[in-house]
Amino acid sequence: MTGRINRRDFIKKSAATGAVTGITFGGSSRAAVLTDLYDRQNSPNERLTLGFIGVGARAHQVLSEVLRMPGFEVAGVCDAYRGRVDRAVEKTGGRAKVYRDASELLAAPGIDAVYIGTPDHWHKSHAIAALEAGKDVYIEKPLTYTVDEGLEIIRAVKKTGRILQVGSQNISSPTQLKAREIIESGRLGQITMIRSTTNRNTAGGAWIYPIPPDANDQTVNWDMFQGPAPKYPFSLERFFRWRCYKDYSGGIATDLFVHTMTTIHYIMAAQAPECVMATGDLYRWKESRDVPDTLNALIQYPEGFTVNLSATFNNQSAGERGIEILGTKGTLTLGRELTFTPENPIEDNDWIVASWARALEDAYFKDPKIRQSEQPQRWDPKVIPAGESWRGIGRNSTMLHLENFQRAVRNRKQPIEDVFAGHRAAAVAQMINLSASRKMPVFWDRSKDGLKA
Ligand SMILES: NC(=O)c1ccc[n+]([C@@H]2O[C@H](COP(=O)([O-])OP(=O)(O)OC[C@H]3O[C@@H](n4cnc5c(N)ncnc54)[C@H](O)[C@@H]3O)[C@@H](O)[C@H]2O)c1
Repeated sequence: MTGRINRRDFIKKSAATGAVTGITFGGSSRAAVLTDLYDRQNSPNERLTLGFIGVGARAHQVLSEVLRMPGFEVAGVCDAYRGRVDRAVEKTGGRAKVYRDASELLAAPGIDAVYIGTPDHWHKSHAIAALEAGKDVYIEKPLTYTVDEGLEIIRAVKKTGRILQVGSQNISSPTQLKAREIIESGRLGQITMIRSTTNRNTAGGAWIYPIPPDANDQTVNWDMFQGPAPKYPFSLERFFRWRCYKDYSGGIATDLFVHTMTTIHYIMAAQAPECVMATGDLYRWKESRDVPDTLNALIQYPEGFTVNLSATFNNQSAGERGIEILGTKGTLTLGRELTFTPENPIEDNDWIVASWARALEDAYFKDPKIRQSEQPQRWDPKVIPAGESWRGIGRNSTMLHLENFQRAVRNRKQPIEDVFAGHRAAAVAQMINLSASRKMPVFWDRSKDGLKA
């Protein structure tokens, strides 16, 4: 490919020109460039033609990014609701061809790769059909609806040699790469706990999305939506709010926690937990769903740390706080920004030694080491070590993740969120659901999971 520059050249060039794609350090003028210009160099005639299987709400976000990127051409779309197809075609200026369903789209000539944005219960069938049709695949998270499906998709990727990227786009963001580097450097000391809270208190946050007024049994293809799910009478609620129902979704764990787990696996270079314990229940939104609206999970890793995830749709005071990585030397908070806060541990044993013989108490505080570690002035803000923060700038993470996919397709090398990463993150979410529903711990035996990469 012509016009391509390698990463080292790019970093040199960017340092000279002050290029800004990347992250800044605490508002200072230093800038780290963490992505390269590869995809801006693509000539239009090297375009990757994409077919969209499912053009729902998320697909429309992705479509808008794809249409702004030079390396893609949207060649075709299909969906089970006419309104979304029409809107997608309109966005492409009429260029995208409409196909009746996924199999017609996959059989059409001139489509190199597909974006799969269907509900979760369809992911495995659509992914395997696309791989077997010789397409590269960008598929939304969660990769799977059950753990076993992950193994089937892994086999299909290996057999066909196609590229597969899973769509937890945040791991392509520069802040997550920076978080990984900081953790790798040991700056946080020993990390034993990671926690994250995703709380909401709105109907939309609880997935009760508005239903388009033109939706009816003429504009919605109910059979196409149901596919491999248990059969149920026509229901617009189920069609447009499928996350609320176990027949199509794993609820909070597979919709929200899966993003967090993808990130945690990536920044901690961890693969899979050894044990998951979770509790959850449906306390409030009982008329609209059969999945829990409140879920707590503890996930233990053989690498020596525990993850603590929680979410409720019944209070939002804690909000969606991002991920806190707690180390003996500092805390890294990963949300829209990345913040490092050093630890400032102060011993406070006054009340213990106050119960000793007076002479021993006096001697204790005469020890210079004790005076140093228990000095009350260490609370003084002037002596508390300063923190640092970073933010991603430039292209958004969806675009960066799509670029990563595009690069993988062109180089024939699996992308950042390959089938293994997607399977493992989704499997943790499914273990959380299993543990919560059976009220018992669930274990992952890595020596038997048969996963090599
Ligand atoms: N990466 C992210 O940040 C992110 C954000 C939101 C959703 N998602 C994921 O995207 C996927 C879709 O979610 P959504 O919110 O867009 O849901 P959605 O209901 O808005 O879209 C799903 C679309 O799939 C269509 N569909 C259903 N069955 C089909 C079939 N057999 N063939 C073709 N089309 C079919 C539906 O008509 C609908 O338009 C889910 O897996 C979800 O987890 C990811």
